[in-house]
Amino acid sequence: MSEAVNEICPHAGICGGCAYNNIPYEDQLAIKMDAVQGHLAANNIVVRPVDIRPIRQTSALYGYRNKMEYSFGDEVKDGPMTLGMHKSGSYMSVINTTGCLLVPQSFNVIHAAVLDWALASGYSFHHKRTHHGFLRNLVLRCGVRTGEILVNLVTSSEDELDEALFSDLILGLGVEGVVGILHTINDRRSDVVAVDSVRVLYGRDHYFDEMLGMRFRVGAFSFFQTNIEAVESMMAEAAALIPGQARDDRGGAAVVTPGAAVVTPGADPGSTLYDIYCGTGTIALALSGSVGRAIGIELIEDSVTSARENARLNGITNCEFVCGDALEVLESAAERGLPAPDLITVDPPRMGLHPKALKRVIAYGLPRILYVSCNPKTFAENMAVMQNAGYRLAALGVYDNFPFTKHTELVGLIERS
Ligand SMILES: C[S@@+](CC[C@H](N)C(=O)[O-])C[C@H]1O[C@@H](n2cnc3c(N)ncnc32)[C@H](O)[C@@H]1O
Repeated sequence: MSEAVNEICPHAGICGGCAYNNIPYEDQLAIKMDAVQGHLAANNIVVRPVDIRPIRQTSALYGYRNKMEYSFGDEVKDGPMTLGMHKSGSYMSVINTTGCLLVPQSFNVIHAAVLDWALASGYSFHHKRTHHGFLRNLVLRCGVRTGEILVNLVTSSEDELDEALFSDLILGLGVEGVVGILHTINDRRSDVVAVDSVRVLYGRDHYFDEMLGMRFRVGAFSFFQTNIEAVESMMAEAAALIPGQARDDRGGAAVVTPGAAVVTPGADPGSTLYDIYCGTGTIALALSGSVGRAIGIELIEDSVTSARENARLNGITNCEFVCGDALEVLESAAERGLPAPDLITVDPPRMGLHPKALKRVIAYGLPRILYVSCNPKTFAENMAVMQNAGYRLAALGVYDNFPFTKHTELVGLIERS
């Protein structure tokens, strides 16, 4: 596919959401692969070319996002209110992105209606510079396999939202699958969606989705993988890298068999897995069938609640989730009565592992560590520290889970040399 398929996006070149919107898809893949190689080289990571897999594209180029966080603002100073993404190269400007191709069509319908409502309502929008104004964000999330949609309007407390009117507006659109409408109040100065209080205007404050053969409960503020089809194939390949995981007939991707009852052949039922930065528990749950005990560590309470609920929903009894900062939990693991790990997986946020947490992970001296990364730069920097400590990059999977954006996911198998 060498043509510029993305030219059909009405916001190409203006929207700051997709950095690679004007680049033909094959060239995007090449740029991403080159960037990965560049970060590895810049950090002197020794890896055999044969151990780096060619970049894998996701099955769907469009409509793959299950979450969108739109901002209210204006495109030009004192111009009409807008709702969408930041303009490319201009953090203060927001453009209407009601024709976005990366989201499900239902998101665009809700987005357009909320924009019309906001323009007619007389409400102000929250200004980043003055920290005054009312409407802040519209957050839409959906269960790709269940069709469930969660709508969350984020405002400051500067005005009074007519909650019944807003709820009626959403329900009156005839968009199927809306299971919850929320009103979140956030008076903090930072631009991220945070919660001072949340009111459920309709339905519930979470939705369900299915991934890796399991059912997931996703809280309104929980992390959940954005492109679940891509994550499924990535996780299957990641599991195949770990000895003791079952492989399919072709010797390729592992058969991910969650659930303590289904211990895969060759797995060690006495072993302990630490899934550090576990979010809603995807990795711990997916690998739970091949270890005796899986312990997820995660900072955000809402994600931990979802992870526990996910284990329960899927009848998985050998996973537990600890809420806390990764470093602090690792440092106090013995006092918390946690057994030492036999296998560690890490899936840190973009900034990578905290240097002290990385030191701690290395200090366990395990034969292998599985590193899932959403940032090749910090992956390579962390890898350099591990290499100096006697580890080597034994295999690297590269995944384009987010076409048209600059993001690349990696799965590294890191072994003691
Ligand atoms: C890339 S996500 C991991 C997602 C997870 N593997 C999943 O599938 O749900 C990174 C996670 O690290 C968590 N996190 C960020 N800083 C942390 C810290 N200092 N200690 C523990 N968890 C942290 C975030 O809340 C987020 O859930």
